[in-house]
Amino acid sequence: DWTSANIVAESIEQIRETVGDRRVLCALSGGVDSAVAAALVQEAIGSQLTCVFVDHGLLREGEAEQVKEDFVRVTGVDLVVADEKERFLGALSGVTDPEEKRKIIGREFIRTFEATAAQLAGERGIDFLVQGTLYPDVVESGGGSGAANIKSHHNVGGLPDDLQFTLIEPLRTMFKDEVRAVGAQLGLPEAMVWRHPFPGPGLGIRIIGEVTAERLDILRQADAIARHELTAARLDREIWQFPVVLLADVRSVGVQGDGRTYGHPIVLRPVVSDDAMTADWAKLPYEVLEKISTRITNECPEINRVVVDITSKPPGTIEWE
Ligand code: XMP
Repeated sequence: DWTSANIVAESIEQIRETVGDRRVLCALSGGVDSAVAAALVQEAIGSQLTCVFVDHGLLREGEAEQVKEDFVRVTGVDLVVADEKERFLGALSGVTDPEEKRKIIGREFIRTFEATAAQLAGERGIDFLVQGTLYPDVVESGGGSGAANIKSHHNVGGLPDDLQFTLIEPLRTMFKDEVRAVGAQLGLPEAMVWRHPFPGPGLGIRIIGEVTAERLDILRQADAIARHELTAARLDREIWQFPVVLLADVRSVGVQGDGRTYGHPIVLRPVVSDDAMTADWAKLPYEVLEKISTRITNECPEINRVVVDITSKPPGTIEWE
């Protein structure tokens, strides 16, 4: 019988058997899969696990804290944080091309993770690396469809080739809903268990134009408002994803009080989908859109226009870059 309690008990037993008294490493991305995988392994072998969180500064408001504080509190995991915000900003300086951004973020991530992993392996003698691979990923990588090449998808939980670790994939037989049930069973915060899919390159590909600290702050603020209002309207689980995109190189004229403004537009991109291969723009209630628009233009001084993306996929992709 599939119950989350059974699956947790069974996974724990398997992990203990595999690992014995050796040491394990796991990279946390802020996403559901790596969090649940890490929590399962922690439950199984406790202090033999070390988690690494590369803080690239491209997560949304509260997400890094969710990993560094909430996740650690709930699981008791030993977490090493690589604070590399400045490094990523530096590497992205002057870059506007979407594919170039992805390559840079991917490359810097691997470098940071590799360096941290090598150091920890040296200090502690690590044998295993946890990956949050799900059943659909297993099937997909066996299939090799060409569609994946439209954008160079880079999974920030990715494995550097030259590190000599054996993989542990505790979610290998599970679908997403099962992973969420296991996460809930292990006591992970609701916001983490029900987090929408979020791209590895993070907000870096939701700023159209160069990524800067100021622009990240603006986008983070607007995105937090949109997410907050979606949750307040209890629509999280009906929406597949809700990207908020800053058109940082575009300005338009507006008026506020007695003054003319010349600010940036922000794009709301709520979509419904089953698997992200195709998607429909989500018909959010007007009241919700109105609330988001009013709040963003009132609370974010740099934004004077809010637009809604009503393009399906295809022909649009979910993300703008
Ligand atoms: P698109 O924009 O191609 O996105 O319709 C499809 C799904 O993939 C996510 N996405 C990414 N995920 N690394 C990721 O881990 C990436 O580089 C990446 N690019 C897009 C996107 O959020 C959507 O769920």
